This record gives sequence, C-alpha cells and structure tokens, in this order.
Amino acid sequence: MSEKGNDKNFVSEHGDLENETSQSRRDFLTKAAACTACVGAIAAAAPLFSSMAPDAGVNAVSSVEVDISSMKAGDVKVVMWRGKPVVVRRRTEQEIEAAKSTNLAELRDPQSDAERVMPGKEEWLVVVSVCTHLGCVPISGKGEYGGWFCPCHGSHYDTSGRIRKGPAPNNLIVPEYAFVNEKTIKIG
Ligand code: FES
Repeated sequence: MSEKGNDKNFVSEHGDLENETSQSRRDFLTKAAACTACVGAIAAAAPLFSSMAPDAGVNAVSSVEVDISSMKAGDVKVVMWRGKPVVVRRRTEQEIEAAKSTNLAELRDPQSDAERVMPGKEEWLVVVSVCTHLGCVPISGKGEYGGWFCPCHGSHYDTSGRIRKGPAPNNLIVPEYAFVNEKTIKIG
C-alpha cells in the first residue's frame, strides 16, 4: 500500500481528528485575518489621533495678553483665547454699583460681584463671551440689565456677567487671568 493509501486510511479511520485539525487551522486563519484588520485600522486611525493632539499653535495661545492702557470707562475689548471670545470690560461707576447692589436671592446662579472681579480692580470685568445656554456670542452693553444680551433665545446678563433672565442656566464664565502690570491683563 502506498503512502497515499495510508494517508487515506488514516483519514478515514480518524475522521474526527482530521475535522478538529481543519477547524483549528480555520480558527488560526480567522484570527490572523482579524489581527491584520486591527493593525490596518490602527494604522489608518494614527493620523486622526495625531491630529487630535494639541499642536504648537494651540499651546501658543494658551494665554494671551491684553493691552488695557488706552481703555476708558465703558470700553470693551474682545480677544480670542483658546478659540473663544473673551471680553475685557472697563465698567463705569454706575455699572459697578448696579452689580454690587444686586440682591443675591434674585440670582439664578448666585455669585456676588466681588467673587467675579479682582480685589481693588472692580472696574475691570473679564468674561468668556459665550452664552451658557447653547453657546451663542451675546452682545455686550445690551439687554435689560445693561450687561449682555444673547439674541439667540433672549438671555439677559447683568453688568457682572450674571444671568438674570432668559433660558441660560449660568453666569458668563470668568476665566483665569491676572494683572501683569497696570497696562496689561494676561488671560490664561
Ligand atoms: S444661546 Fe444664548 S439664549 Fe440660547
């Protein structure tokens, strides 16, 4: 009997073993194909991950300095910081008084004016000019409370940037900032 014949006999006598071997081989090939697909997917996603990492341009604007030397009472300056508009507002005496004298019990997001400005620098208010409702940019100096008005759905903020009327749930955000000197504010 030839070797080939022996193989046939072997197969016919041990059919189950042959089936298990075939199954194992199929499993191996399936897993190998899956792994290859994984490697391909990771390789394809690599540029996406790398594009999600902060680049030098983003880091460069992690803080921004604002020259406030020429600003008079009532003036407003808008700068872009981390992709958002930030307003620096030099408040008038009336605006400061209105913000200070507000009864906190009337506020939806209770915060005193003193919590939102620097001690001794009450004339300067710095806020992220993004409505806390759905993210529109409110208009400075408008609205029923003379602070900001968001035309998208009618939110009114006061002269401390606190929400007073309309659908917005929270006050305008006060970002981290510092006075570098009498002429410069550094945001971030
Ligand atoms: S986004 Fe400002 S009121 Fe809706």
